[in-house]
Amino acid sequence: MSLQQAIEKLAKDVVGRYVKPGSIVGLGSGSTAAYIVREMASLKAKDTLLCVPTSLQIKVEAEKSGLRFADESRIPDIDVVFDGADQIDNKFNMIKGGGGALLREKILISAAKTVVIVADEAKFVKSFSRSVPIEVHPMARTSAARALAKAGGKPVMRTLDKGYPSVTENGNVILDTTFASIPDPKKLEMELKAIAGVMEVGLFTRKPDACYKAKGDGTFEVLKP
Ligand code: A5P
Repeated sequence: MSLQQAIEKLAKDVVGRYVKPGSIVGLGSGSTAAYIVREMASLKAKDTLLCVPTSLQIKVEAEKSGLRFADESRIPDIDVVFDGADQIDNKFNMIKGGGGALLREKILISAAKTVVIVADEAKFVKSFSRSVPIEVHPMARTSAARALAKAGGKPVMRTLDKGYPSVTENGNVILDTTFASIPDPKKLEMELKAIAGVMEVGLFTRKPDACYKAKGDGTFEVLKP
């Protein structure tokens, strides 16, 4: 039994439980969300569903699975969002944006009626221990970095293998910012969001409706915050 089998099983459970004929479904990004998308492909009601993707990565997966897309103005009508996470703390706050899709993910997660997070057990931590991705307009690259340092962070601009800046689908850069500790994620999220040029912060403090934890022994657990 493996983690992959656990994710395949949980994908079946998630889709069976949360996708109804005619649902409008928000698709988060990453490898775990892709399992959910592939599972949705086998639904009888597939053609009645409308999806809103958060990145080109998951859009391509959804296209391959023959899913249909909603007009993006339907965002307030989203019934359920399925998304992964980079870390989830013991109060179900999350760090997201490891794949650079945080802005669209935040829009969907803020607006959806139901939010379901799927992640492997390594993502569940007592308190955050990784950098927070912060999407910044290129013009504010240095001014926002200075403001982030003032707020106690150590920002590093995300780059690709050869050193080119990693540019998001929205044309922005990402400052992966390390904080010594994050005692109040909501407060820090709001403080960072107020910096001019910050487009979105990878701290997600809306509690999900359910968190699916995939385990290495091939099983999964459902946590209800
Ligand atoms: C995308 O920007 C992130 O928020 C993803 O949700 C995250 O990177 C999860 O990816 P995996 O499921 O591949 O770990």
